Amino acid sequence: MLATIPSLQGRSFLSEKDFTKEEFLYFIELAMKLKDEKKYGIPHRHLAGKNIALLFEKPSTRTRCAFTVACIDLGAHPEYLGKDDIQLGKKESIEDTANVLGHMFDGIEFRGFEHKKVEMLAKHSGVPVWNGLTDQWHPTQTLADFLTVKENFGYLQGIKFVYVGDGRNNVANSLLVGGALVGMDVRICSPESLFPAEEVVETAQSLAAQSGGKVTITSNVEEGVAGADVIYTDVWVSMGEEDKFAERIELLSPYQVNMDMVRKTGNKNMIFLHCLPAFHDLETKYGKDIYEKYGLGEMEVTDEVFRSAHSKVFDQAENRMHTIKAVMAATLGNMK
Ligand code: CP
Ligand code: NVA
Repeated sequence: MLATIPSLQGRSFLSEKDFTKEEFLYFIELAMKLKDEKKYGIPHRHLAGKNIALLFEKPSTRTRCAFTVACIDLGAHPEYLGKDDIQLGKKESIEDTANVLGHMFDGIEFRGFEHKKVEMLAKHSGVPVWNGLTDQWHPTQTLADFLTVKENFGYLQGIKFVYVGDGRNNVANSLLVGGALVGMDVRICSPESLFPAEEVVETAQSLAAQSGGKVTITSNVEEGVAGADVIYTDVWVSMGEEDKFAERIELLSPYQVNMDMVRKTGNKNMIFLHCLPAFHDLETKYGKDIYEKYGLGEMEVTDEVFRSAHSKVFDQAENRMHTIKAVMAATLGNMK
């Protein structure tokens, strides 16, 4: 039996920096336990009788499905509310909407644009709010990523974790701060114009000083990936910035994850991770459009790396569900 952490009860999950190293690692331990329980058919209905609102202003495959399946496995009822279903900030203030939802639901997931919105929901709803991605952070993704690292290497402390690509997006911010929190040798490798914001780097540096971790921000690929255990990338253009393809292709082409970059790590046991969705072939509408306009058949990662033995992206995607389940169970569940 995994001892519960009382400090997590009733808490919201908005970004990595809100948690201690011990709390963050606990979510991962709990996810491992819940993953085992699911595998062996052991019931874990820690949210029996609860109702959960799932608010999505941006599209989602993994996050929506992970929250939905996790709710049902935990015995809760999930209610999906898409961008045209409710008035959030349009005809009703976020404060009033939060208040109403908090009087009906036991917990709220939110995916959207401004991080401020998820903070306001947490402030005014009176129930735990879980961030399913904002423009600034994607913390439930970090938990799934670190669980995948733990499953492959057995530990997190000192892991050489390299994020390559758009260094200032939500996933990069979360991995930088999350990696520093748990004591990784975390590196952002991107063009200087896409370096993370100074305040994010400062937060990461101060967490690394406490955890024994290390923070590196570099535009040099050789330096960035040397000895890497993990190479991680994300799309070059995030949701909401679709007008930026031309400039990002120009800036980020030298940072494409390909077999040459994998060899540069010098580590044959390295793994490749990606939060997904990924542009690695021409099997998407976006992929085809980009090919027609710019002649590029693959973007942030080549099909060869994506399909290689190094790639753990589908285990990582499954881990979204186990880790999201852990977050909901630890913050809202009856864990006795
Ligand atoms: N990784 C991730 O958040 O995927 P979705 O956008 O499909 O939820
Ligand atoms: N940075 C990406 C992550 C998608 C899961 C985006 O925000 O679109």
